[in-house]
Amino acid sequence: MEAKRRTVSLSSLREAASYLGNEEEIYLVYDENVAWAASEVIAAIPSVKGTIAIEASEEYKTIDTVLGICRSLLEAGASRRALVLAVGGGITSDMAGFAASIYKRGVRYANLPTTLLAQVDAAVGGKTGVNLDGYKNMLGTIVLPEYTFICPEVLKTLPDREFRCGAAELLKTFLIADADAYSEAVGALSAGKPVGELILRAASIKEAIVSRDLYESGERRKLNLGHTFAHAIEHEARLRGDDIAHGEAVSIGIILAARLSDSLGLSKTPESGKSLAARLEADFKACALPVECPYPLDVLAEAMGKDKKSTGSKVAFVLPVVPGEVIIRELLPVAVTQLLDH
Ligand SMILES: NC(=O)c1ccc[n+]([C@@H]2O[C@H](COP(=O)([O-])OP(=O)(O)OC[C@H]3O[C@@H](n4cnc5c(N)ncnc54)[C@H](O)[C@@H]3O)[C@@H](O)[C@H]2O)c1
Ligand SMILES: [Zn+2]
Repeated sequence: MEAKRRTVSLSSLREAASYLGNEEEIYLVYDENVAWAASEVIAAIPSVKGTIAIEASEEYKTIDTVLGICRSLLEAGASRRALVLAVGGGITSDMAGFAASIYKRGVRYANLPTTLLAQVDAAVGGKTGVNLDGYKNMLGTIVLPEYTFICPEVLKTLPDREFRCGAAELLKTFLIADADAYSEAVGALSAGKPVGELILRAASIKEAIVSRDLYESGERRKLNLGHTFAHAIEHEARLRGDDIAHGEAVSIGIILAARLSDSLGLSKTPESGKSLAARLEADFKACALPVECPYPLDVLAEAMGKDKKSTGSKVAFVLPVVPGEVIIRELLPVAVTQLLDH
């Protein structure tokens, strides 16, 4: 039997009604910064029984906020038949999904992501969670949403920097699995053209990978392209009080992964004769994404050893071969930084 498709495209917010119109009890958890989008959904769906506004910040992405959501559901009389609809970016879908997955031992949830990052990444794939004592996403569950609604219209109020962070994850997905989409996305992003259809394509690629490997024992690990370096960059940025967003760190991390792939002789030289790293660097710069690592590589090595995705002292690196293809290699962080320093 074919797996149910959960990622669906909406041409307007009101179209959510054609999927949720028959639900008996919907509870909306929304980011107060996108109250306008929540209002449009509420106007279109009569069965919204309650609304819960949250502040989307990493500081409040905690178990206490999730308990607050659960408490509001209980006070509103939400039953086992309830469906929680998250309207917001990744912080909102991570917390609403987590609350839904534990409330009354689990009720269904759906996502209406309002950032590009959440549309192509956070709101697809069923990982939910919150931070614990400053450590990111330490508590959570893996439960697939009933739907992830992709509605490009919601991005009209998204700040440019947030958009570019999502663009880094969009390019990441295509580098893993779709060379043509990668070229199209670079073309569109560098020319400032809309990426509407490409968003759905990226979300669908992630959905397909997740459907084959929900618990990240194999193929799903590919989605960590650029992330081993990115987490180390973010760690160092926190220590220094620098402002580097996740998508920016991912962008730099992908370029470092390409350089590593080049030095290990794993990348295939594109037709241009340029190294893979040089090609990706040019592409990413054209898309206004950062490519230079602001920190010396040896300071990243220690942080990479502590990355939660490590096994033993070696760490899994996802390495691009050509756009559309990656491989995973377990490597020692120290050896990696030595290779990159040359
Ligand atoms: N579950 C997963 O698989 C997964 C994957 C990647 C990231 N994440 C998590 O997602 C979070 C990041 O998600 P994000 O980048 O979507 O960030 P976010 O939810 O923090 O949103 C970013 C900012 O944009 C605002 N915003 C959201 N939509 C807007 C809109 N349409 N117009 C104007 N402002 C808007 C928010 O209020 C917030 O200030 C992180 O906590 C990360 O850990 C989860
Ligand atoms: Zn990411």
